[in-house]
Amino acid sequence: MSTTATLATLSDSDHMADPNWWRQAAVYQIYPRSFYDSNGDGLGDIKGITAKVPYLKALGIDAVWLSPFYPSALADGGYDVDDYRNVDPKLGTLADFDEMAAALHEAGIKLIADIVPNHSSNRHEWFKEALASPKGSAARDRYIFRDGLGENGELPPADWDSVFGGPAWERITEPDGTPGQWYMHIFAKEQPDFNWSNREVRDDFLKTLRFWSDRGVDGFRIDVAHALTKDLAEPLLSKAQLPREGENAMGAHPYWDRDEVHEIYAEWRQLFNEYNPPRTAVAEAWVHAERRARYASPEGLGQAFNFDLLQADFDATQFRSVITKNLAEAKASGASSTWVFSNHDVVRHATRYGLPQGGRKDGDGKDGDGKDRGQDGKDWLLAGGPKDELDAELGLRRARAASLLMFALPGSAYLYQGEELGLQEVAEIPDVDRQDPAFFRNAGVEVGRDGCRVPLPWSPEGSSFGFGDGEPHLPQPEWFANFAVEVQEGADDSTLEFYRKALELRGRLQAAEELLWHANASAEVLHFSRPGGWHSVTNFGTEPVELPEGTVVVSSGPLDGGKLPSDTTAWLLTDN
Ligand code: BGC
Repeated sequence: MSTTATLATLSDSDHMADPNWWRQAAVYQIYPRSFYDSNGDGLGDIKGITAKVPYLKALGIDAVWLSPFYPSALADGGYDVDDYRNVDPKLGTLADFDEMAAALHEAGIKLIADIVPNHSSNRHEWFKEALASPKGSAARDRYIFRDGLGENGELPPADWDSVFGGPAWERITEPDGTPGQWYMHIFAKEQPDFNWSNREVRDDFLKTLRFWSDRGVDGFRIDVAHALTKDLAEPLLSKAQLPREGENAMGAHPYWDRDEVHEIYAEWRQLFNEYNPPRTAVAEAWVHAERRARYASPEGLGQAFNFDLLQADFDATQFRSVITKNLAEAKASGASSTWVFSNHDVVRHATRYGLPQGGRKDGDGKDGDGKDRGQDGKDWLLAGGPKDELDAELGLRRARAASLLMFALPGSAYLYQGEELGLQEVAEIPDVDRQDPAFFRNAGVEVGRDGCRVPLPWSPEGSSFGFGDGEPHLPQPEWFANFAVEVQEGADDSTLEFYRKALELRGRLQAAEELLWHANASAEVLHFSRPGGWHSVTNFGTEPVELPEGTVVVSSGPLDGGKLPSDTTAWLLTDN
């Protein structure tokens, strides 16, 4: 096939009507409170997103995924939902939402909403009703209430830990003022878990999915999709009896990844398929690889996140094995694969790759300098992010190389706001400004996820770097000025212009979901091609390597004559 023939592209309207639009979409995650503040209250909002649709269009993404924008006390950044069928008044109105959806669609961009079905907030009408109602009532049955153990019920029903630290059960005060039952919360205590055995809960979520689908939402991201169904048969297992990591592959854990959860998604799928094009969904399911396929099947949600690349070191062997495995799995389930390096829950990849272990290689090409730091960056954050531990320049170079490789892969690429600016994690947030419950429930063990949720810098100047006129809800560091959109726009070697170019080419080069590996003299080089003569080559090693034949169309960093320097990816087109 000739080079020019591979550059055909779908028009915006074809793309909007295509039932398979999601299979190879570039999806940009917006954390609404930190994107753009249109009214100066320090919180990003819906109108702020609408104002930036031209920016999103110029970036070249296919879809936007909005983290929760529902009414919430923000006990967990909006993942504590008070009302599933409304917009947080702090962020705007339903009319603002409709306006935003229309503007995105007009620009040829799909809209994905985050659905949080495992738990509501403790301010949800149903939870308030449950607290005001007696033990055994229908209102209590929508959540997971149990009597406590001990003589007076003073001990939790089980000794389970919540994900954010501390117990997974909280005792309530009964309407008559006496100490009462306990309710289960896998996350913060402000996030009571729903009882998914209750038909009313199921019906209410169907109503919510229909509500947003009717408003033009094209797809859904399903929060902790693997937690909804639970085996709470008495006696509850104790912590010591719970299946450990690696032992729960058969759905045997009482509250993670149980087989019954798929009945729920089969019902959702029927609803999604009533729409044209069908609504899509992607599961956030932290399950064993072989259990992911059911979440991603066409009878289920259709797609599931794979976090394997995100968890891998910057290493050719690890990347290749993750890619090969995930492509095979996705194919077997009928889904397309998903790829992601950064999101609102993890340390930004430009920082992770700049940290000693799992990132830097010494001059001899061997792994890092042996310092005891986690590749996920959490220890580094906890230590206050000392600068001599972080090689930010190396981190960014590798992040750009990894992202360009990701954009070449078959399947969907999920990007997180700010990565297109090359933003680093913000380590220097004073404790008094922190918001993440993981910090409050786990003091001294985790600092939480605020460092990747700091409001974006749009301009190098102004009190909030152009984020808005008010005081940003999380403090921005001085160095944000260098990463501002205005600084990068039009600057040839900027990360923003690099992302724009890569995404534009990706859109034009969309090829069948196939990948062919090519041998390379160096084991530290990954070279693969896609149908149509489209090649991606990444040098994970320390020495420059020869580029294969072809015309270079984009690279993640400067090339060294005809050579590909270390920590760099290049795309080439050939005529075969
Ligand atoms: C979301 C987190 C959230 C948790 C509880 C997750 O997986 O991505 O941000 O804290 O679910 O809703």
